Amino acid sequence: MSATILTALDPDWEGRMVEIVDRLPGVGVGRRCADLADLLAAASAGHGDVALVSGELRGLDRDALSHLADHGVRVVGASREGGEEQERQLRQLGIPQHIHLGTPREALVAALTSPDAIMTAIPGLALDPGEPVAGENTPSRIEQEVEDEQAPLPPDEGPGTVVAVWGPTGAPGRSTLAVNLASEVAAGGTSALLVDMDTYGASVAQLLSVLDEAPGLAAAARASELGTLDVPSLARLAVEAAPGLRVLTGIPTASRWTEVRPAAIEQIIELARSLAAVIVLDCGFNIEDDEELSYDTLAPRRNATTLTALAASDELLLVGAADPIGLQRMVRAVEALGQVPAPRPRPVVNRVRASSVGPDPRRRIAESLQRFAGLDDVTFLPDDPAATDAALLSGQTLMECAPESELRLTIGQVAAHLTGRTPTRRPARRWWRRPRAARVPRMRSHPQRGA
Ligand SMILES: Nc1ncnc2c1ncn2[C@@H]1O[C@H](COP(=O)(O)OP(=O)(O)OP(=O)(O)O)[C@@H](O)[C@H]1O
Ligand SMILES: [Mg+2]
Repeated sequence: MSATILTALDPDWEGRMVEIVDRLPGVGVGRRCADLADLLAAASAGHGDVALVSGELRGLDRDALSHLADHGVRVVGASREGGEEQERQLRQLGIPQHIHLGTPREALVAALTSPDAIMTAIPGLALDPGEPVAGENTPSRIEQEVEDEQAPLPPDEGPGTVVAVWGPTGAPGRSTLAVNLASEVAAGGTSALLVDMDTYGASVAQLLSVLDEAPGLAAAARASELGTLDVPSLARLAVEAAPGLRVLTGIPTASRWTEVRPAAIEQIIELARSLAAVIVLDCGFNIEDDEELSYDTLAPRRNATTLTALAASDELLLVGAADPIGLQRMVRAVEALGQVPAPRPRPVVNRVRASSVGPDPRRRIAESLQRFAGLDDVTFLPDDPAATDAALLSGQTLMECAPESELRLTIGQVAAHLTGRTPTRRPARRWWRRPRAARVPRMRSHPQRGA
């Protein structure tokens, strides 16, 4: 097997490495890249099939590795002699093959031409939480569990089910459903992880009175980019809001959306499956694929988080508002979902009331959705401003502050349907303790609510 090499190496020893590599049988240097952008562009253009990268390469992260893998480019790490630290860093990122200036000729040829060098940035291979990613010294998942008592991996459960809660613009109630669904799942005895993936207007931390400074999604994404995210570290970042309910809070301000890249989201979701039996994703409204709108395919994509979340989910709850505008948006949303990878949507119509759609609202809504969007089996959540306002004001779930409300009981039924258990009826009193945020700053919420 021959190989065309793209190099992106430290300039101090790049020339020596290129000289060595270029003399190897069946190997040629296709392009010497000045930086990561150059390397990614060369890979996209098909100028090579192996990327030789050094640990010092600025910006090299899992997202970049994903890009290379997507273009069929294998990645091999390189360092000067004695570059153990760089080698360790690259291994942590999921690059197992490594060469240096003193590597014997046969080993160099093997590393650069062997199909075994295929790696790794391909999600699910090096990212598999069951596989060590950081070299021989990395403990296996089981060792990590033993070492780290904080990792609450369900002992006998298989990989968790991922439920995306998504709906179009207009604040139809995605977060209300996501938060209460996750809390009902946990109260029913099934471990749940709620992840705030709304990069336009995160709200889960406030809805649940979880401390604002909880590190959450941004920290998990950063750890993923650095190659240090695993199940125990994800468990540490996802605060326990109630027994059996972990919460990964969202990015604190919408302007930080660029920090959350799709490869990180993929890994977070994959690891989350080992952390809880049900993972509920509160997704942002926008699923326009901004990559298609841009000539620069390497630019960060505003909606990539939502698109990645939908693609990785097993179930999709499509939330719409029960009024003429909300229902029309729901119909368009079904069309939009048809253009992206996502599970079949299960419709949930929220704030159902006769005053906005006329008498017998459920029949009217069901008929419209069936006729215009082909949607059946609609779940109806009643309009209940008293219950949701009380929940918002107190930072509690409906289970805590409106346990007998039809709204809460219906969400409980959705949870029971997902987990195959009977719905729970919990007493009205607070049934857990959790770190509480100060009440006063709550008005800072939702920088773009209603977007
Ligand atoms: N069934 C309901 N009855 C009355 N009010 C509701 C109901 N569901 C949600 N609300 C209220 O509607 C508002 C928007 O709800 P929520 O934040 O859940 O929507 P969202 O779709 O997540 O919006 P955003 O675009 O801000 O993310 C909130 O004030 C919430 O309390
Ligand atoms: Mg929301």
